[in-house]
Amino acid sequence: MPAMGPAQAEAPFIPAAVIPPQTDPPSWLLAARTPFNQIEGWPRAVFEGDAYRPPFPGTPLFVVEPQAIRTVLLDAAQDFPQGELLKRMMRPAWGRGLFTAEDRDWRWQRRATAPAFRPAEMAGLAPLVSGVADRTVEGWTGSGQTNLIDIASEMARLTFEVILDTMLSGGEDFDRAAMQSRIKSFIADIGRMRVSYFLAPDAYHASRPDARSAHRQPLLNDIRRMVSRRRGSASRPDLVDLLLQARDPETGQGMDDDLLANNLLGFIVAGHETTALALTWALYLVAMHPPTAARIRDEVTKVAGTNAIDATHVDRLVFTRQVLSETLRLYPPAFQLTRVSRKRTELAGFPVQAGSRVIIPVYALHRHRGHWINPDAFDPDRFAPSAPQPDRFTYLPFGAGPRICLGAAFAMMEAVTVLASLVRAIDFTVVSPHRVRPVARLALRPAGGLPMSVRRIR
Ligand code: HEM
Repeated sequence: MPAMGPAQAEAPFIPAAVIPPQTDPPSWLLAARTPFNQIEGWPRAVFEGDAYRPPFPGTPLFVVEPQAIRTVLLDAAQDFPQGELLKRMMRPAWGRGLFTAEDRDWRWQRRATAPAFRPAEMAGLAPLVSGVADRTVEGWTGSGQTNLIDIASEMARLTFEVILDTMLSGGEDFDRAAMQSRIKSFIADIGRMRVSYFLAPDAYHASRPDARSAHRQPLLNDIRRMVSRRRGSASRPDLVDLLLQARDPETGQGMDDDLLANNLLGFIVAGHETTALALTWALYLVAMHPPTAARIRDEVTKVAGTNAIDATHVDRLVFTRQVLSETLRLYPPAFQLTRVSRKRTELAGFPVQAGSRVIIPVYALHRHRGHWINPDAFDPDRFAPSAPQPDRFTYLPFGAGPRICLGAAFAMMEAVTVLASLVRAIDFTVVSPHRVRPVARLALRPAGGLPMSVRRIR
């Protein structure tokens, strides 16, 4: 497979925020660093070879060879489920929803919800999203001055507002601020549980009832009440409405209020921080590389002028989308995918026992020395429509195969709309001497946030 990426005329821009491969095969390092920053222990072999197994008993196989990845995620996907461990970790958030379902129960829910998440449906949500982005600009710079903000927490707040507007818009009669703080605490609870898994997996399993967060049930009750009110009311252009109409095309089966509430809570958890991180990293890159900021501004002005971004603009913001695709290559929020092999088999020349874990280290795959030219360089033109497309199984920000991210079109519509709206109006500068350092814990985020100064330019 040839390495992908157009030759660059100017010197490549290599962002400083990087977790370099370890030079030596890790010994104690992998084990010691895992709870704090999972990627820090990944050796050079994961960035250069086909597959790698750490030298400890019971460790997973890391696979970066595209054909072997295709086998795991697509061709033999039924032999590589996500594994009970992942399900147990996700169940507090998803209850009986789509993420934790398997086989028949998963298939009908996926068939029923997929049409609601189609790109064509998502484009219609763009005005709701640009409304939130424009309010954010006002909030930051209303009086025209330069302000200092933490972009990471601001993007989390912004994507949360978007979720409230698109998924919980029947909730005018519940306390929005209380709901928001409850969801935050709930997400924090889930995070704590997953870290404790790394520190003591057996104790974690033994001690964990399905729903340990005290916030889950009250949240579900609120969402269920909203869903049942919405069943009887006029339709609105949002995701709840699309999901209320969702039916399995084969059987006509729809979701009851309880299942719908579980899934909505799951979408909030799965979709909120990942999209916020994609935007955070994109703004980091835009701030560090002024030519990219200028090209985005130029494109948005040509496509939308000074108007709010709407459905007709999103598809035409081609370069803005390229910037996001390249951001998701360099900083994939879902930095690894985990599967468990049901059978004894072989992958990329390595034996795999039945019941053992297989990890696709997406962060390393996206910077693999054999798959990409200048792998650490930021170059949105790799994703230009005229550039050769990367091999499907070397670029996996949303996964691949039957369990590919259901919300990918939603996330891209949201991210394109927000990035275009923010960059058109604001000049972003990373506050020096803050050192931006990626940390991979649950998701890939900048350690300690991302302080920036924002200055209104329009
Ligand atoms: C940039 C933002 C996002 C990223 C990087 C992302 C990434 C991913 C990845 C990698 C998977 C596959 C996991 C695996 O194969 O083990 C996944 C699954 C999923 N994502 Fe996303 N996601 C994002 C946004 C969203 C949003 C906004 C939603 C919902 C509104 C969402 C809903 C889901 C669901 C429901 C699944 C499970 C699908 C299934 O098991 O059938 N995601 N996501």
